[in-house]
Amino acid sequence: MTKKILVTGGAGYIGSHTCVALIEAGFEVVVVDNLVNSSIESLRRVEKITGQFIRFYRGDITNKADLKRVFEDHNFYAVIHFAGLKSVADSVEFPLRYYQQNVFGTLCLLEAMQQQACSKIVFSSSATVYGEPASLPILETFPTNPQSPYGRSKLFIEQIIDDYCQAEKQASSIILRYFNPVGAHPSGEIGEDPLGIPNNLMPYICQVASGQREFLSIYGDDYATTDGTGVRDYIHVVDLAEAHVKAVDKINQVDQVQWFNIGRGQGYSVKDLIQAFEQTNGIRIKTSIQPRRDGDIAEYWADPSLARQELGWKATRDLKQMVKDAWHWQQKNPKGYEE
Ligand SMILES: NC(=O)c1ccc[n+]([C@@H]2O[C@H](COP(=O)([O-])OP(=O)(O)OC[C@H]3O[C@@H](n4cnc5c(N)ncnc54)[C@H](O)[C@@H]3O)[C@@H](O)[C@H]2O)c1
Repeated sequence: MTKKILVTGGAGYIGSHTCVALIEAGFEVVVVDNLVNSSIESLRRVEKITGQFIRFYRGDITNKADLKRVFEDHNFYAVIHFAGLKSVADSVEFPLRYYQQNVFGTLCLLEAMQQQACSKIVFSSSATVYGEPASLPILETFPTNPQSPYGRSKLFIEQIIDDYCQAEKQASSIILRYFNPVGAHPSGEIGEDPLGIPNNLMPYICQVASGQREFLSIYGDDYATTDGTGVRDYIHVVDLAEAHVKAVDKINQVDQVQWFNIGRGQGYSVKDLIQAFEQTNGIRIKTSIQPRRDGDIAEYWADPSLARQELGWKATRDLKQMVKDAWHWQQKNPKGYEE
């Protein structure tokens, strides 16, 4: 029988790519999303790519009645939990909103799962839970020390899920700590569609390339890195989506909780990313050096070997593929999902 997966936040950037990967792997997906940071059009595009209908609930995970409706209509094999707010800067300004949406929302979700005896959850965590690492690459066993309300909300949720899985005999969870997702589906049908000014580097580069913004601000070129700019572990969003399929495949064998770093295991600087974009896509990106931003870390990248050993997952798409697919999405959808 086809296994049904509930994808919270499935209309979002990573969620929509994961819906494609799940459907292609033979799962049935049901999405709940309040569309606060996404568009229903992303799911229409997922249907176009896969040729499969997606059952969609417009609902809020902090609303228990919304969740009850979803769980009463279906028997889920597992939940993949993306729904939440994700801007580090906003979380500093609006911490209560972040704890309400991310932490309380997850509590409501776990409660709804418990009531319907759905006991498996894959959770979207983030490399930000590590804070500034003492050495590189980052292993899952490194201490955690998040530097923002957003990062702390992720860590609190990890701990809540852990406690829940210790207490409930049937429950198990895989927690994926993502590094820096970029790129888009190679079809150009789905991609990252930020509202307003992009928080992330790649959509910003794409908007400069397409003439929507004049130049790209580089925050700090005096870090102790190869070229002075910040170094991150960029991972193609389709590789990341595939990690969720591997996690769902594995979750039955997990005793309580397992944590995995999801990155490529290689650091690239801001300038590396710009250069790769320029060379691959043949477009110059105008830049402007700005002072460092508070709280930014000079460099970090993952050791993803545990995910390779235990999940049988490895990122296969390189930087060139990331910048090519990001630009393809931007060119095909200059205004994102907006008609
Ligand atoms: N993109 C990144 O760089 C990154 C890195 C690490 C972790 N993550 C985490 O991965 C997850 C997905 O990220 P994304 O980049 O796809 O973000 P996104 O904003 O595109 O997707 C999140 C989705 O959740 C929905 N949502 C938010 N609050 C909700 C609520 N209360 N009820 C129902 N739906 C709600 C939004 O409408 C959106 O569709 C998030 O939890 C994020 O924190 C993202």
